[in-house]
Amino acid sequence: MTSLTINVDPSRHISPVDPRIYSGFTEHMGRCIYGGIYDPDNKHGLSDPKTGFRKDVLAALKELNVPIFRYPGGNFVSSYRWQDGIGPKHLRPRRPELAWLTEESNQFGTDEFMEFCKVMGAEPYICLNMGTGTLEDALAWLEYCNSSANTHYANLRRENGHPEPYKVKYWSLGNEVWGPWQVGQMESQDYAKEAYQWAKALRLLDPSIQIVSCGETGYADWDRVTLKKLVPVVDYHSIHIYTVSEGDHSVNVMGPAAAEKAIDITKSLIDLAKIESGLDKEVTVCFDEWNVWDPVRAPGEKGAEEHYDLSDAIAVASWLNVFVRKADVVKIACIAQSVNVISPLITTPSGLIKQTTFYPLKLFANLMRGTSIDVHVSSPSYQGKTVPDFISKLEKQDRGKYTKWIDVSGVLGTNNDLVRLAIVNRHPLESFTVPISFGPECALVEGAPVKVYEVWSENLKDSNYRGDGEQGEEKVKIVEKELKADEWSGKYLLKAHSFQVLEFRLIGNF
Ligand code: AHR
Ligand code: AHR
Repeated sequence: MTSLTINVDPSRHISPVDPRIYSGFTEHMGRCIYGGIYDPDNKHGLSDPKTGFRKDVLAALKELNVPIFRYPGGNFVSSYRWQDGIGPKHLRPRRPELAWLTEESNQFGTDEFMEFCKVMGAEPYICLNMGTGTLEDALAWLEYCNSSANTHYANLRRENGHPEPYKVKYWSLGNEVWGPWQVGQMESQDYAKEAYQWAKALRLLDPSIQIVSCGETGYADWDRVTLKKLVPVVDYHSIHIYTVSEGDHSVNVMGPAAAEKAIDITKSLIDLAKIESGLDKEVTVCFDEWNVWDPVRAPGEKGAEEHYDLSDAIAVASWLNVFVRKADVVKIACIAQSVNVISPLITTPSGLIKQTTFYPLKLFANLMRGTSIDVHVSSPSYQGKTVPDFISKLEKQDRGKYTKWIDVSGVLGTNNDLVRLAIVNRHPLESFTVPISFGPECALVEGAPVKVYEVWSENLKDSNYRGDGEQGEEKVKIVEKELKADEWSGKYLLKAHSFQVLEFRLIGNF
C-alpha cells in the first residue's frame, strides 16, 4: 500500500509563477465575440451603450484577473483579413468564414479588441494568419498596431481615431498550421522555413515584440522540426492540448497528465535545439490553448458550448496544477476560451452562468501566485485507461508519477510568509486523510489558523447550468472555511472528487 503524505519544504523553489499562465483567449468562433464579450444590441441593458461590451461578462472576467487575451483565433485566423475589421462599421464587408463555416460581420475587429483589452487591464496577443494571409498582411497589421511612424498603416490607425500605438507585445506565427482542418495547412519543414522569414521581418519592423512559434502538442515531430529551425528567432513555442473524458471521470481528471508530459518533452526539444544552435537564449512554452473539450459533445461548428460538471472542474484544477508545477517552463497559458466557447462562462440574453470550471480557475488566478515550490506527494496512482493511451504505458515505468490520485501544486506567497497548496483528490469514490508536514527549516506560525477554499459537491455530474440556459442553483462554487490553530491536527480529510486550496502561515528559513 502506497503511503499517503504531503511534505512541504518551502525552500525547494521551482520558479516564480508567471501570472500570464492565467491568460484567456477570444476567438471569432461561436458566441465568444458576438453575444459573448460584444453584444451591442442586448435588450436587457447588459451591454455598455458606448462600447457594446457585455458588462456582466467583463465583470466576471475581472474576477479571473486575466493578464493576456489571445485573438482573433484559433482556426478562424487562417482565413481572416484583418483589414476587413477596421474603419467605419457600416463599410466593413461581411465575409464567408471558413474555419467554422459561418459568416463574419467584421463589426468587431482590431480596434474593438484593443479597447476590450484596455478596459480589462490586459495585454493583447495577436495570432497571425499564415493560411490565406501573406507576410505583407502580417507586417501591415504590426504596423497598424505598433508603429509611431508617418507611414500608411500607422496613419490609418490614426485616421480611425487611435493616435497612440497599441504596443502589442505578443505575436504568434499562425495557428495549428499542422492540422488538416487548417486553411493553409503546411508540412513542418515548409512552415519552419516560412515562419523563420516572418519572424525576421516582423522584428525588423518592431524589435520590441515577442514572437511565438506554432507548435503542435509538444510531443509531435512537428515540434522537434520547427523548434530546431525556429529557436534562434522566437521567444516562445506554443502548444495546444484538449483533454476529453469519453464519459469516464477518471479519464477526465487524468487527462492533464498528457500536458505535463508534453511540457517535459517540449522543454527537452527546446534544450536540444539550443544545443544544436549553440545559442544562449530563453525560449519557454506558451500553452495558448488548453481545456477540457469533447468535440463530439460540443462540436466546433456548433459553437462548442460545453456544459461543464464537477468532474470537469476537478480536471481543470489538475490542469492548473500542471502549470504551477511547470512554472519554470510554462510562462503563458491561455484557457480556450474566455466566453461561451468551451468556456467557464456562458451568456444568455438576460444573464451569465458561471460554470463549475470558473471556480478552480478563480482560485488559482487569485491565490496561486508567488514562487512555485516542489511539494513531495506520496499517493496511490490511477492504473486504468488514459486518453491519450501512451500515458498509461509510460506511467508503468514512471511508477504513476503523473497520475496520482492526490494531485498537488504549491506556492510560497510573494511576501514569503505563507504557503498555499492546491490539492485535488481526483478519486471518484474514496476520501483520503492525508498528513501534511512542513520542514525541515520551517514551522507553522503558532496560533495561526489554516484557511481553506473548497470546490466540491455531492455528485460528479453536478453542474451550474440549467437546461433552459439560465443560471441554475450554483451547486459547484467556492466555500471558504477557517480551521483554528487548535483544530489543525496535521492531517486533512480530502473528500472524494474535491478540490481545495489550503493556506498556511509559516516561519523559518526559505
Ligand atoms: O479553441 C477552439 C479551436 O481549437 C481553435 O480554433 C483551434 O486552434 C483549436 O483546434
Ligand atoms: O481538436 C481539433 C478541433 O476539433 C478542431 O479545431 C475542430 O475543427 C474540431 O472540432
